Parts: sequence; structure tokens; C-alpha cells
Amino acid sequence: MAGRLEGKRAVVTAAGQGIGRAIAEAFVAEGAEVFASDVNPDLLADLAGADVAALDVTSAEAIASYARQVGAIDVLVNVAGYVHHGTVLDCSEDDWDFSFDLNVKSMHRMIRMFLPGMLQRAAASGISASIVNLSSGASSIKAAPNRYVYGATKAAVIGLTKSVGLDFVARGIRCNAICPGTVRSPSWEARVEELGRQIGGRDKAEELFVSRQPMGRVGKPDEIAALAVYLASDESAFTTGTAIPIDGGWTL
Ligand SMILES: NC(=O)c1ccc[n+]([C@@H]2O[C@H](COP(=O)([O-])OP(=O)(O)OC[C@H]3O[C@@H](n4cnc5c(N)ncnc54)[C@H](O)[C@@H]3O)[C@@H](O)[C@H]2O)c1
Repeated sequence: MAGRLEGKRAVVTAAGQGIGRAIAEAFVAEGAEVFASDVNPDLLADLAGADVAALDVTSAEAIASYARQVGAIDVLVNVAGYVHHGTVLDCSEDDWDFSFDLNVKSMHRMIRMFLPGMLQRAAASGISASIVNLSSGASSIKAAPNRYVYGATKAAVIGLTKSVGLDFVARGIRCNAICPGTVRSPSWEARVEELGRQIGGRDKAEELFVSRQPMGRVGKPDEIAALAVYLASDESAFTTGTAIPIDGGWTL
């Protein structure tokens, strides 16, 4: 099926690689007008069919200027996020602040700036606008080893998602969170390499990640993008405030 996002204007952050990239590409394929951004614009150079821009989601000024430039939209996908490795004892004040700034406050900033235009588009069209936030299975859903502050930020994303969902449910806005298990992305590959150096081999490290996956494999960015397309499209018109696990059975 194609054209599921025809007529929709969609913003995707962190679209340079991994899940964000797969979402931006899937949205283009489904007919959306896509505004794809990343803090590293070089990664966007070969993203065909989208309007691409540099955007650091930790900067309120940059987001305000980007929102003015893009104008009103129907779909906002907040992807940018960072994985801090360690327990509470490894998490400094700076680690905590950086993680919350990038993983949570960035979503607050993006939603504050884009929501007024989304409310206008929804009121004018009578069709709900959709916000999709990348959370994680490592959140309020489940603990993962050495994901102390990461899990705290992703739990906060679920709380933020439900609040926005409730406050705007009667005004044509839907807000949902995607909670992936382990997904093969450039930053995940780097985490496997790093763990491999500590435990004696990359393959051993990958086996460790895969061993906690009941399906016996990690996910693909395209599989997460498929859920994002559904949540962005009118097919999910009755869905808001949800936190949807997509994890090969990790949370079973
Ligand atoms: N990969 C996984 O296993 C997994 C699992 C659960 C949740 N997630 C979440 O999915 C999202 C994407 O993760 P991924 O692993 O697919 O991608 P990734 O970590 O490989 O790439 C992250 C992207 O974010 C961009 N970025 C970093 N800082 C930014 C900033 N300040 N402003 C804008 N962009 C910035 C980077 O340039 C990069 O393109 C994250 O929120 C992550 O927490 C990933």
C-alpha cells in the first residue's frame, strides 16, 4: 500500500541514521511532505525526496527558527535520543542533565513550537494531527542493565506523551510513544563494538544482546518505521496516549 501519508506535512528529527532515517524514508515513500533534520546535516545528504536541514534539538532558539521556516505540520516525530551506559553510580550530574536535555526536554521544545500549527491544521481539516515520540522498552516498561538514566528519560517520555495526549485529545491532536527493544542502528553497532572490547569479542557482545530477544534476533529500523507510518496515518485515528512495545517479545 502506498500513499498512506498523502497530503501530510511531517517533521522527523534525528533523521540522519538508524530509526529516524528509516522513518523519514518510509514517510517519503508513503507520500508525505517530509522535513528531515539532524544535528549532523552531512548524514542527510543522500536522503532523497525530503527537505533536509541541520537542527540541534537541544537548542530552543534553533527549534523556534526551524518551526517558523517549516510552518504548520500534521505529523511530528521526535526521534533524537542518546544512550548513557551505566548504573546510578556511573551517572554524574552532567550525564543526568545531558540525557534529560537530549532525550526529554528536546521533545518538550519541539512540541511547544510545533503544536500551535498542528492545532490549526487539525481544526481546519477535521483530521487529527499526530505526534510520535521515540521512547524505549527500557523505560517504565522494563529495566535494562546499565541503562539507569536512559531508562529514566524514556519513562519520562511516556509520561510526557500521555500528558500531551490527554490535554489535547478533544482538539484534534494524538500523541503516542514507540517503545522499541534492541534495534540494529549505527549507535547500537558502536555499543556492541564497545562491549566486545570489554568482554573479549564483538560476536560475543552481539550474542549477549540477541540472547535476551525471544525472537532470536534484534530489530530492523524499517520495522520501527512501519509502526511510525501507522501512528502518523489516519489508520490510527482512534489511538492516542499509548506506549507501544515493538521488541521481538523482549517484554513478554
Ligand atoms: N537502536 C535501538 O536499539 C533503540 C532502542 C530503543 C529506542 N531507541 C531510540 O530510538 C531513537 C533513535 O535511535 P537509533 O539507535 O536508531 O539512532 P542512532 O543513535 O544511531 O542515531 C541517532 C541520531 O541522532 C542524531 N542526533 C544526536 N544528537 C542530536 C541532537 N542534539 N539534535 C538532533 N539530532 C541529534 C545523530 O546525529 C544521529 O543521526 C533514540 O531516541 C533511541 O533512544 C533506539
